[in-house]
Amino acid sequence: MEVIEILREASNRIYENVKDLAGTESAAGDFGIGAGGDISRNIDIIAEKTVLDYLREINFECVVLGEECGRVELSNNPKGFIIMDAIDGSANAVRGVPFFCSSLAFAVENKLSSVTDGVITNLANGEMYWASKDRGSFFNNKQIKVHSKDPIYKIIGINTSGASADLMQRLYPIFEKYNHIRHFGANALEMALFARGLIDIFIDLRNKIRIQDIAAGYLIVKESGGILLDADLKPLDADLSYETRISFVAAANQEILDEIMSQIDK
Ligand code: IPD
Ligand code: CA
Repeated sequence: MEVIEILREASNRIYENVKDLAGTESAAGDFGIGAGGDISRNIDIIAEKTVLDYLREINFECVVLGEECGRVELSNNPKGFIIMDAIDGSANAVRGVPFFCSSLAFAVENKLSSVTDGVITNLANGEMYWASKDRGSFFNNKQIKVHSKDPIYKIIGINTSGASADLMQRLYPIFEKYNHIRHFGANALEMALFARGLIDIFIDLRNKIRIQDIAAGYLIVKESGGILLDADLKPLDADLSYETRISFVAAANQEILDEIMSQIDK
């Protein structure tokens, strides 16, 4: 079975197991602080267990790097890493806001740039985004590309959750000039919408995103033709450690990248 099929099946199983849970009291159950540093909610735990159970069932030889469960070695002879954010957008999921997803990626080395497969599933409706290295990105069964033409409305995604006053001040010229700024609350799914051409540029300069939040989106964005850069506008890369925190910009083309980034105060 190809790795991408394994990730897709694991994502489908998450969807089946959590689809009726979002917004219920049971979703919120508190399991203490997870490996990623946030409170693990019952819905996070159920989703992670679904993946771990499945990987054990098929004897997939890997090391899992889960946002809640931490590093789980499923083999002494691993083929690589499964980077798992079983629920991205946990706050939305717990409240029942229909914008949350699962993000599963496979990397052969301890680096974001070694991700070979990624799957993001919208857990509000089961829609799936996936990519394998050099094979393109797909939404359900259709290949997707970032937006190429001049859009009717320029949609700018900016993650401002917990942003510092200094960052908000630097970003202010964009807020002043543009009318369609969006922030939905699940970074991985926002990257997937970007890859599908629904958002023209997506900016997260908070230095808060974990490797689990970004690994699948990294490949899906790149395979859909997006430009993906770090805060210094260099090609994005990072190691897979639990301490790593990332800032990034995903842009549909150089033009919009230059236009928007030139507004940000240095
Ligand atoms: C969160 C979401 C959110 C972002 C946070 C992440 P989680 O992931 O991606 O959009 O603003 O920084 O932690 O905690 O729901 O998996
Ligand atoms: Ca999560």
